[in-house]
Amino acid sequence: MRPQDASLLGELFEHGLSPAARRQRFHAAVRCLSPVQLAWLANADFRCHAAFIVTRQAGGLEHAVAEGCWVRSGGTADAEFAMSVADAWQHQGIGQHLLHTLVCTARAQGIGSLQGDVLAGNLAMQALAGSQQFDCKPHPDDDHLLRATLALAPQPVLSAAWFH
Ligand SMILES: CC(C)(COP(=O)(O)OP(=O)(O)OC[C@H]1O[C@@H](n2cnc3c(N)ncnc32)[C@H](O)[C@@H]1OP(=O)(O)O)[C@@H](O)C(=O)NCCC(=O)NCCS
Repeated sequence: MRPQDASLLGELFEHGLSPAARRQRFHAAVRCLSPVQLAWLANADFRCHAAFIVTRQAGGLEHAVAEGCWVRSGGTADAEFAMSVADAWQHQGIGQHLLHTLVCTARAQGIGSLQGDVLAGNLAMQALAGSQQFDCKPHPDDDHLLRATLALAPQPVLSAAWFH
């Protein structure tokens, strides 16, 4: 994801995701993100914060169909991830590819473990995380959430060129 992708990201959240999917992504009744929130998400440095967007071309225009990110938790070797795939593009393996990308890039940047908070009723994300060896356990602070965790073995740091 590049800073100029912020508007594509906004379009995905507002028009590509149903209210239920947005609740699963943000754990709240969000309709759209503010320009400041979108700019922050799209401004990844790929060291403490990595963000990826999947787009397609249609009618000469680019549209976002999926997004995912991880953000290093302040002062620790761990990072939190979140992701979403537009309703119309689910069940086609995009989520699988995106989560694999999040795992590989986090590992390559020396992240020790990747964690994601998942609503207890979000069976799709639980199955997807489980299929990539994440361990889903009850959240320590919230009965409505599960915490999906994957410990990452260290790998050589990727060059910045890999992300472009
Ligand atoms: C969870 C989500 C990202 C999955 O994306 P996707 O592109 O549909 O996933 P894939 O097609 O790659 O499916 C991967 C696996 O996930 C599981 N899965 C996906 N959808 C599922 C569903 N509705 N029910 C149960 N399992 C499901 C399956 O194990 C599937 O593997 P399979 O196709 O071999 O059976 C998508 O449903 C989504 O964006 N949901 C709303 C936002 C969200 O929940 N974000 C997570 C917050 S961190």
